[in-house]
Order: sequence, then C-alpha cells, then structure tokens
Amino acid sequence: MTSNGPNRKAPFQLAAMAYGGDYNPEQWPEETWHEDVRLMREAGVNLVSVGIFAWAKLEPRPGVYDFAWLDRVLDLLHANGVMVDLATATASPPPWLAKLHPESLPVTADGRTLWPGSRQQYCPSSPAYREAAARLVRMMAERYKHHPALVLWHVNNEYACHVSECFCDESARHFRRWLQQRYGSLDALNAAWGTAFWSQQYADWDEIQPPRAAPTFQNPTQQLDWRRFSSDALLECYELEHAILKELTPDVPVTTNFMHAFKPLDYWKWAQYEDLVTLDMYPDPTEPDAHVYAAMNYDLIRSLGTGRPWLLMEQAPGQVNWRPHNLVKEPGIMRLWSHQALARGSDGVMFFQWRASKAGSEKFHSGMVPHGGTETRTWREVVALGQELRRIEELRPTRIHAEAAILFDWENWWALELDSKPSADLRLVGQVRSYYDRLFERNVTVDFVSPGTTLSRYRLVLVPNLYMVRDETARELERFVEAGGTLVMSFFSGIVNEHDQIWLGGYPGPFRRLLGLRVEEFAPLAPGQTNTMRMADGHQFACNLWSDIIALEGAEVLGEFGEGWYAGRPALTRHTFGRGLAYYLATRPEPAGMAWLLARACHEAGVEPAAHVPAGVEAVRRQSGTATLLYLLNHGHEPADVALESPALDLLTGQRHCGIVTLEPRGVAILRS
Ligand code: GLA
Repeated sequence: MTSNGPNRKAPFQLAAMAYGGDYNPEQWPEETWHEDVRLMREAGVNLVSVGIFAWAKLEPRPGVYDFAWLDRVLDLLHANGVMVDLATATASPPPWLAKLHPESLPVTADGRTLWPGSRQQYCPSSPAYREAAARLVRMMAERYKHHPALVLWHVNNEYACHVSECFCDESARHFRRWLQQRYGSLDALNAAWGTAFWSQQYADWDEIQPPRAAPTFQNPTQQLDWRRFSSDALLECYELEHAILKELTPDVPVTTNFMHAFKPLDYWKWAQYEDLVTLDMYPDPTEPDAHVYAAMNYDLIRSLGTGRPWLLMEQAPGQVNWRPHNLVKEPGIMRLWSHQALARGSDGVMFFQWRASKAGSEKFHSGMVPHGGTETRTWREVVALGQELRRIEELRPTRIHAEAAILFDWENWWALELDSKPSADLRLVGQVRSYYDRLFERNVTVDFVSPGTTLSRYRLVLVPNLYMVRDETARELERFVEAGGTLVMSFFSGIVNEHDQIWLGGYPGPFRRLLGLRVEEFAPLAPGQTNTMRMADGHQFACNLWSDIIALEGAEVLGEFGEGWYAGRPALTRHTFGRGLAYYLATRPEPAGMAWLLARACHEAGVEPAAHVPAGVEAVRRQSGTATLLYLLNHGHEPADVALESPALDLLTGQRHCGIVTLEPRGVAILRS
C-alpha cells in the first residue's frame, strides 16, 4: 500500500456554498474561455472541476507534458473569482498508453479486451497505468501546488463506472498476492473457501484464478473475495494518487466523486480517504419516485462522511444522453432537486457540465450553457438558482440529526446477490427501499450505518436482509436492543459468516437470542405468487418473494401467514430483549404493510417526523446549536398547505409566515422560526 492512511484531519468545508460544474475548456477554442468566465460570473459560479478528461492534452506523448494551456485556464478562472477543483486527469488514459502497453487494457471475464476510443480503458492492477498516472499526478501537484485557484483535488472520476474489475493475467497475479495477505496460508484459504466441495482444493497459489467464465457456478467465497479485491485494487489506485497529493499539497483537500448506491465499490472503506465526500446523482425524470431514490442516496452519502457536509458534484441541468429516452427536467425540477440535495446536507450544487459539448458521445447531454446559448430556459434557470444560493449561506453551519438508521453493508450486498440462493429475486437495494421509501413518506430522517458502527445514538435501527454478518455486528445489535433500542430486521439475515459459510445450529444463528425465534426453513415464492399477512389487530396485507417457516423461542406473534401449507405460522414477530424490542419480518409485505409496521416501530421507539406535512411534501430539519431550519419541498403537482407550529421566516423569499405556508407545485421554502 502506498497510502499515508485515511484522513484524520478536522472536517473540511469549502469557503462558500459551491455552485458550478465540470469545465472542459480543452474542448473549446481559447476565445470561448473568455465568454465562459463572463457567463460564470453572471450565473454566480464559484467552483469548477477542471481537466477531468484532459490527460491526452496534458501529456500528448509519453513523458511530454503541455501545461501552458491549463496555466492560462487556471489564471483566468482565478482572475474571475472562480475556485478550482482540479482533476488529476487519470480517468481516461491517452491512446499512446494502450499502444505502448497493450497489457494495460482491461479484460472481461470471458477474455475480451476493452479497447481505447471510449474512456476508462485501464486495468486497475496494471503497473504501466499506475506508473503513468502517478507521474502525471506528481507533475500536476508540483506545478499547481501554489496556484491560488486550487481549492480541491478531484482524483480520477467515478472509479469503476464502466470497468469495475479486470480478469487479465496481471490482475490474476495481483489477486493471488491479495489473497496471500488475507489468508497467510493455502490451508486457511482452502478452509475459508470450502474447497473440499467439487474438488476445488488448491495446492499452489498459482493455481488460483479470478472467477473467469466457468462451466457453472463459481465458488461463492472466491467470488466474494474477488469483489473485495476488485474494490481494493481500485482503492489502491486512488490511494496512490491521494498519497502523492498529500505529500506535495498537504493542505489541499482531496476527493473522488462517488456514484449513488454503487455496488462494485465498498464506499465505507473508500470514504475514509475523502476530505470531502462528493456524489454524482442523475435522478430519472421518467420515474415518479426519482426524488425518493435521490433522497436515499443523499442520506447515504452524508452518512459516508459521518454527517459532515458533502457536495453534489454532478447532476444534469436538463436531460442526459445515456438513457434510451432522455426526458428533460421540466421547469422547476432542476431547482427543486438541487434544493433537495442541499436539504440533505450538500454544501453546494454542481453540474455535469458547464458548457454542452459540440462533439463526442455526450453532445446531447445538457450543459449549464446549452448549445443555444443564453437565450434558453436552461440558462435562465441556472442563473436564477445561482442567485438564490447566495441568499442561503445560513444553511451551511447547520447539520442533520437522525434518530433512525438503516444498516447497510457492501460485503453483505455482494454476498446476498451471489448466485445459488433460495430466490434469485432478492435484491438488497430493493429491500432497503422497502424501508427507506416508507420512512421518506413519513418524513422520518435516517442515517445509514456500516456494520462497525456503535448504535447507541439511535432509537430505531432497521436491518434489511443482513444475510452475511460477523459475530461482532450481531453483538452490537444485541447491545443496542438490550439498552432500549428498537430493531426491525428482515428475513434471510444472520445466515452466513464473512466467508459465506453457514452459521450452523439453526438459522439465524447469531440472532436467535435477540429475535427469540428459529427459522426452520426458507420457503421463497415464485414470481407473481403472493401470500397474506394477517395481523393480530385485524389488518391484512399481501406479501411476496419469501417466507420463513418460524419456530418461536420467546418472541410474540404480531402477524401470521394467511395461506398455503404454512398458514398460521408467524409472519411478523416481536421480542422483548433487555429494555428494547426486536421485530422480525419473515416475508416482503406490500408497501402498506411496511408502512403499518414502520409507523408502529417509530411510535414505540419515539422517532418523530421532521414535520407533519401533506403527502408529497418532503421535510428535513437542519440544526446548529439552538437554531433550526425547516426545509420544505413540494414534489406534488398541487399546491400544498403546511401548518406552522410558530411564525417563521422563509430564507428564500424573506417573507414571514404565520399559521400556514403554501408551497406551489415544485415549490421550496427554508423556514427559520
Ligand atoms: C458521469 C461522469 C461524467 C459524465 C456524466 C454524464 O457522471 O462522471 O463525466 O459522463 O456521467 O451524465
């Protein structure tokens, strides 16, 4: 490892609320740069990400650098009051790297090479790529370390967005080294991987392969370790750059932009190296609940940064180019969704990209400056938002406090979704959303927590399908409930250890005491098949996907299955454990069933919504000392009246409201009472 370790410094916050986007001046003649900075001033832009895909322009031939143009860009931006998030430019190697080092190209599981002509065509384990990237980063840091425009380093770009794993021979060797470090001996590896099964026992490290295309199911622990390794291999690339930047510019914060709940990279691990956690988010305007998924990601990203301010690094001003049908953001949506990110902790609003490209595969992706220039709706909305952001600096010292948390673990995600399970339809993000979406509707703010987290600061902890669990995590969940917490856990939790080997002695081994039950067998449902949950209080809900056949060991039954051979067996249980309560859900209820359960759990845990507002209105509370700001966002198509508990001032309009504030469709208010 090349790193000087995760960040331990005080949390970093930009000097002002950020507004801007990816700026690619290398795609334009120099005259355009002057128009760019004039327009940036007009729009209130104060931060741009420069040079993300400029490697070929910065190093046109191996070892031959041209920084003169970038010097002029940075000087010009600085002269116009625009701060720079300077990219290390390593996301898209120039074509010469592949020509000189064809072995640096990534290879798929079935042995196909991914060639240049697009982007991200590098193998994460390639020494040639790593050396060339490190050389460039060192040159960049040496050259710009004292440049007054530089406020943030933007390492690479969306690691793994296209290539998250490489199966070439170099990667195979790297995988073996990683395994040697993890296991120390082949005996330990054979035991962890359970290689007695199907005659897979290894007698020599060199016999071990990445999970390349194979006749049928691959060893699941090998697949799981491959996922861990692939995330780590890219993290090593990031750490390599991070270490150089920290050596040469110790005072400049470093980030790399994350993507939503993105499966290939264990962001809990990655986030430890981020001075500022940043996110790219592209909610799909065709989806009626796109804003709910966005909110979930904003809460996840805030949690990755342990509650510190984060930054929305990219979003589209209008349409994207990469979906089959690229719908525009209708008037007001870009503003509404930008405020949503601010409400949930972003310290600014950034776009991809500043000026829409005239060539290349993203030329139909919207930009803050559209092809049509400034006489456009997009530009008018961009300028209006920029002006509005200057009025809400007061937001920046405030933070979000959640009383409920969802346990989210990348390793569990990988393990849960490997092949050969009782049902192939069990997907973690869908399950997380079955909780998150209902809490969103209730305006209950949630954090996400990793398995290692101490849970004592929460009242309610939700555990969707924690299939793979380490003993320490199970003990922490017990401690949480014992001390008075409320827990809700879904089926197929506590099934395997970190090697994907069954916790023997009856499912769910590590949670039997806590839940007061034993699962005798899993009875998944076929696609389209449903059952019912009959609640003791008379409610009845449809359920699907899964049923656990439960034997009680102290838990009480709150609901039972209504149909089939296991009718009458428990579908929902509750167990008093110490001073707290542990709910267990043996199936997937329809949304109304989840809403019923979570309403009850919130009530018992004493978890309150941020505000009582009409359906379709999102409410988030932000606090600093005794000051509270209430962010209200109307995602509905009708005006919404929100009753206020006390008179309040809207930071956006400067208006005082008493009694009721009316939000227009797509309307936003930030109320200080
Ligand atoms: C990603 C990338 C950008 C750009 C946008 C387009 O987020 O980081 O370079 O390709 O997608 O939406």
